[in-house]
Amino acid sequence: MNKTKTSSFGTTKRESHDSSKFYKRELYSKFKNQESISPGLEINFKPPGKWANQIYLASSEKMTDVPDNSIALAFTSPPYNVGKDYEDDISLDNYLKLIKNVGKEVYKKLKPGGRFCINIANLGRRPYIPMHSFFYEIHIKNGFLPMGEIIWQKARGANGSCAWGSWKSAKAPRLRDLHEYILVFSKMTYSRPDKGISDISKDEFMKATLSVWEIPPESAKKVGHPAPFPVALAERIIRLYSYENDVILDPFVGSGTTCLAAAVNNRKYVGYDISDAYCLLARERINNALKIKKD
Ligand SMILES: C[S@@+](CC[C@H](N)C(=O)[O-])C[C@H]1O[C@@H](n2cnc3c(N)ncnc32)[C@H](O)[C@@H]1O
Repeated sequence: MNKTKTSSFGTTKRESHDSSKFYKRELYSKFKNQESISPGLEINFKPPGKWANQIYLASSEKMTDVPDNSIALAFTSPPYNVGKDYEDDISLDNYLKLIKNVGKEVYKKLKPGGRFCINIANLGRRPYIPMHSFFYEIHIKNGFLPMGEIIWQKARGANGSCAWGSWKSAKAPRLRDLHEYILVFSKMTYSRPDKGISDISKDEFMKATLSVWEIPPESAKKVGHPAPFPVALAERIIRLYSYENDVILDPFVGSGTTCLAAAVNNRKYVGYDISDAYCLLARERINNALKIKKD
């Protein structure tokens, strides 16, 4: 097949597309894709030991139980610092310090080619805190390569909640968010240097490679945690970005959704949380899901 090349007028077909001219532009020089070091990297990958399939009660700022370069995918939603019962009232700077420290630690634990997917919502209105932009800054500084951004659309329409005085008026209309973000980063290289089995179906792959995912939210009451994300969201991330038998990490594990989704999708998992109660809840949810899968 003849390769297409980037042209001033774009290109209609992408199969076998040669985009090297485009990525050699100065605009991209900040991001050091280390594709060239990929061959042979996989020889350093050890099969997971007893440290895997565990939920650890500790801060993910230091994940000493997990060997460096051992995780294929990390998927998490961090504490949002909005006053949930597990959150202290800390400043934005101190909050972002935690995010930076955990991000650094995740980077160490990921294999080359490993991915870090972060579910985050922007906050407030007066002011609107564009949390996801701070997350980009921090993680790019931490060395991650940005790979894309998924808009997680949680609903099609929101009800009411317009403040008096703003109804149909230009005085102070407030946007009502239907979405959150999933920021996707990778370590050192965009493609996985190691080989593995992908188990995503054709239909799911077609949906998952679109940048907007419509998946209903999870009920906090049903799960018993104030901010769970849905299992369907974690499953899609896991099947898109990891191979079977990979180890999946959630540094802010909460009710254990990421780890549960990993376990029922033939992956291994590791989770961290500073709450004993949430570690217990996560272990219980994983065990129940595995029992249901077995029966
Ligand atoms: C948004 S919740 C995660 C919810 C999770 N995605 C789920 O589906 O249940 C964030 C979690 O981070 C935990 N957490 C806060 N600070 C932490 C830290 N330094 N290390 C590990 N976990 C932490 C909180 O206890 C909380 O359970």
